[in-house]
Amino acid sequence: MDATKLRRAIARTPLAPVAAFPKRLARVVRHDAKVLRTSARWLVTSREHHNYTYELTKLSRHHLAWFVSVVCDVPVKQVRAYFTEIESDDVLRRHIESATAGAARRGLADRQVRYARRIGWYAIVRATKPTHVVETGVDKGLGSCVLAAALLRNAADGQPGRVTSLDINPEAGYLARTAPWSEVVDLVIGDSIASIAALDRPVDLFLHDSDHSRAHEKREFEAVEGRLAPGAILLTDNVTATNVLAEHAERTGRRFLAYRETPANHWYPGDGIGIAW
Ligand SMILES: C[S@@+](CC[C@H](N)C(=O)[O-])C[C@H]1O[C@@H](n2cnc3c(N)ncnc32)[C@H](O)[C@@H]1O
Repeated sequence: MDATKLRRAIARTPLAPVAAFPKRLARVVRHDAKVLRTSARWLVTSREHHNYTYELTKLSRHHLAWFVSVVCDVPVKQVRAYFTEIESDDVLRRHIESATAGAARRGLADRQVRYARRIGWYAIVRATKPTHVVETGVDKGLGSCVLAAALLRNAADGQPGRVTSLDINPEAGYLARTAPWSEVVDLVIGDSIASIAALDRPVDLFLHDSDHSRAHEKREFEAVEGRLAPGAILLTDNVTATNVLAEHAERTGRRFLAYRETPANHWYPGDGIGIAW
């Protein structure tokens, strides 16, 4: 009996799982060893303890470009040009590096600048030219800087806008307190639900990235609903954890899509962008 016939014969018997075990074990060990190597390298090279930063894999970047292209109805080439624009903004990159090096929490931050899915936020702002962006959850201010950079480019193209960045932590947003980015950022300290209630002008683009509990995410979308401009776009950073924005989109007659990012060379499984429009 040749090898193929023998394998097929064994596959029909109760011995099949035992015979396949060494191959299955080798696969799992190879996979887990790679994960362990990546995790060990990260433990000794990174200082971050939350809100991790990383690059996207090439494939994940391609998929993000198409995601933004479809959602914003702009050619994918244009989206890729927006990605290149933010990634080659050396003035912003140098500012983030030096502000990180001088920050009080520098011991818990990496100096290397890695935007991950935030290049998608950038492209969405460049493609849709919002007048008023609201970001809940600021942390160091990396996202606020990326949003501000897009708004500054929009202003140079004759379509200015501002971002209101909300955080409960008074130390949040240190990266976004420097001009020119600070000139288009209004940093508001307080609980996001109260801050949303106090917004004094309509919101064109809303991004949830604060308290990632299901209940808080839901409360934010409910709170902002009456403050949205016609045709406003809603984004969530919590789409890999909850279905809150999809449910909100269904209730309010919007469309919904989700993109899941894949970090390159990082143990963290990644977050994503949920969008309702
Ligand atoms: C994931 S971080 C934000 C990341 C940021 N958007 C970025 O791009 O790097 C979450 C932030 O939400 C803030 N936060 C948590 N609960 C909040 C609340 N109830 N209201 C406002 N901000 C809150 C935290 O202080 C923290 O800085």
